[in-house]
Amino acid sequence: MISFDNPGVGTFTTPRQVMMGDGASAKLADLLKGWQVQPARVLLVADREVTRLGLIDAIRGSLAVGGFEAAVFDAIVGEPLLETALDLTDFARGQAFGAVVGVGGGSAMDMAKLAAALATNAGGVKDYLGIATFPKAPLPLALVPTTAGTGAEATSVSMFSIEGRKSIVLSSQLIPLAAVLDPSLTLSLPPRVTAATGLDALSHACEAYMSIRANPFTDGHALTAAGIIARWLKTAYDDGANLEARRAMIFAAYLGGLCLNAGVVVGHSVAYTIANRTRTPHGISCTMALPYTILFNCTVKPERLKALAEVVLKSPGAAAEDLALWIDDLNADLGMPRSLKEVGIAAESLDEMVEECLTRYPRPTNPVGLSRERLKPLYEAMHAGDVRGFAQRASRG
Ligand SMILES: [Fe+2]
Repeated sequence: MISFDNPGVGTFTTPRQVMMGDGASAKLADLLKGWQVQPARVLLVADREVTRLGLIDAIRGSLAVGGFEAAVFDAIVGEPLLETALDLTDFARGQAFGAVVGVGGGSAMDMAKLAAALATNAGGVKDYLGIATFPKAPLPLALVPTTAGTGAEATSVSMFSIEGRKSIVLSSQLIPLAAVLDPSLTLSLPPRVTAATGLDALSHACEAYMSIRANPFTDGHALTAAGIIARWLKTAYDDGANLEARRAMIFAAYLGGLCLNAGVVVGHSVAYTIANRTRTPHGISCTMALPYTILFNCTVKPERLKALAEVVLKSPGAAAEDLALWIDDLNADLGMPRSLKEVGIAAESLDEMVEECLTRYPRPTNPVGLSRERLKPLYEAMHAGDVRGFAQRASRG
């Protein structure tokens, strides 16, 4: 259901071009030629893992055939730190580049956004924290995801940590000129990464749909993405070599990224409080929180959540509660943990997590206001993995 009841003015941003198809990443030179990139020297920003798999050599080779020389910065391992961003800034300013290409998961793509902006602008990363305006236009930027999940190839944000705290640079100038969706790059993803990243994309779609900033653009993409993920994620997980499933997932993850125009809701806040205490990957902590997030918000505009449930479950008459239980079952099928206990969080930590959720990650986009009284039962139910109990409580209001 696409709603038109919000009179607010908003901006929906998106990359200018999307190139999609098997082997699309081998055609980057065509894109760069179309943009008249000069000089013909490209900064390739990549995850170390992507280099190890040989994907960078392949892309570098195809760029060379197209007449572009590439310099590689691949010192990105795990979540990027401020130090990574500083090293990359020096690297980006060390030579005259005509364009930046980011290849990898969310971390590499986020770093590539910064490199494109800081290559042409003075000052350090710390000068642009928060909502930023860059005096000069960034270098032309193409982003090539190698996982199907974060949607970073579609967004205006760059995230990294400074002394253990997540920090962001947010600017419409960071949106790439092109997203290059090459499903063949995701064929080697192991099942657990396929699941975790795909479930992050499902969280983006569902949370954006619940956001008070949801708009007709994000609604349309959210319903489409959630339906595709429901149909194809399990197939991609069971049969990683299935290109049709990989095509579906890389497309849905991109749509999930576009949904982030509406922001996410309390699920991502809860996920950050889990990540701060355990080594749970982002997508896993998000999908653990997702069924509870749906139930937490199910009394607001129930007809909308019902519409989402009907699309995902392909069942007329399905309701928010059915959707929450279905996601919990999917998490089980994909080998995801389903309780805070399972990821090693003690019951004694719950009060502190509630407090951290409220103060560090307040979520004005969430349709139900956050409070200690409302969050405590959510955390308690999540600790026990009692989604059914929480559903009963939610249905009583
Ligand atoms: Fe996410």
